[in-house]
Amino acid sequence: MDNEQNRALNLALFGPPGSGKGTQASMLIEAFGFTHLAPGDLLREEIKTKTELGLKAEAVIAAGRLVSDDIIHGMLGRHIAAVLERGGRILLDGFPRTLGQFDFLEQFLAGRGSRMHGVFFLDLPTEELIGRLTGRRLCGQCGAVYHVQTLAPKVAGVCDVCGGALVQRKDDNRESIQGRLAAYEQQTFPVLKAFEAQGKLFRIKADQPREEVYAAIEDKVRALLEETAVGRRA
Ligand code: AP5
Ligand code: MG
Repeated sequence: MDNEQNRALNLALFGPPGSGKGTQASMLIEAFGFTHLAPGDLLREEIKTKTELGLKAEAVIAAGRLVSDDIIHGMLGRHIAAVLERGGRILLDGFPRTLGQFDFLEQFLAGRGSRMHGVFFLDLPTEELIGRLTGRRLCGQCGAVYHVQTLAPKVAGVCDVCGGALVQRKDDNRESIQGRLAAYEQQTFPVLKAFEAQGKLFRIKADQPREEVYAAIEDKVRALLEETAVGRRA
């Protein structure tokens, strides 16, 4: 029997650094049961545990450059395959970020009888991004995300959820941010055009409160779930 719980759905959150991809992902995961695949998070975990890959990636990330496609393809391919195999829903965050990654994803999904269903572009002016990134704080223990002005914890420097100490991401300084914004303009922006040409891109006004951004995305996710159900019945 077809019901909302068992419908496959592969989506991506797309947008410049600080546009709110991680924030929206955490809300969507809870509501729709997605598996969240974010190469930035996976790479930071590799750095934290000092793996060979982590040691290689650390300086690249600190400079705000992109890690090589080969590394990203290996890492993401494994995770995507595992989710598809168990019939789960995928929410990509920060991938694909180059045209090479876009082609890889298309072929990887097609080879497994699947495809992307929708991509949400979190659109907001560059001037707002810098304030969002420099003011961001994360819990070093549970990863909860705060902002010193727009989402401050009850006690400064302490996580509301688990009491852990809040820290700043190493690449949230002005120099790294300039590198990240340049990488976005030069290497990532063309991917937006590629999804747009496929008719899969939904532009979301992201310079509004978190809950309003979420409501706009949620509406589309429900519509996509309905469409995939119609596709399956047809
Ligand atoms: P990654 O971790 O993906 O970083 P990013 O793309 O630069 O994006 P961020 O995580 O900084 O921002 P976000 O959009 O998630 O915003 P958030 O929700 O936290 O990548 C890091 C690095 O890893 C890359 O530079 C690269 O080196 C490497 N890498 C990653 N993927 C790669 C790939 N595919 N290929 C190659 N290399 C790769 O929000 C930011 C702040 O704003 C928070 O404080 C939040 O509370 C606040 N906020 C969120 N929404 C709102 C709102 N609506 N109103 C007000 N404030 C808000
Ligand atoms: Mg993020």
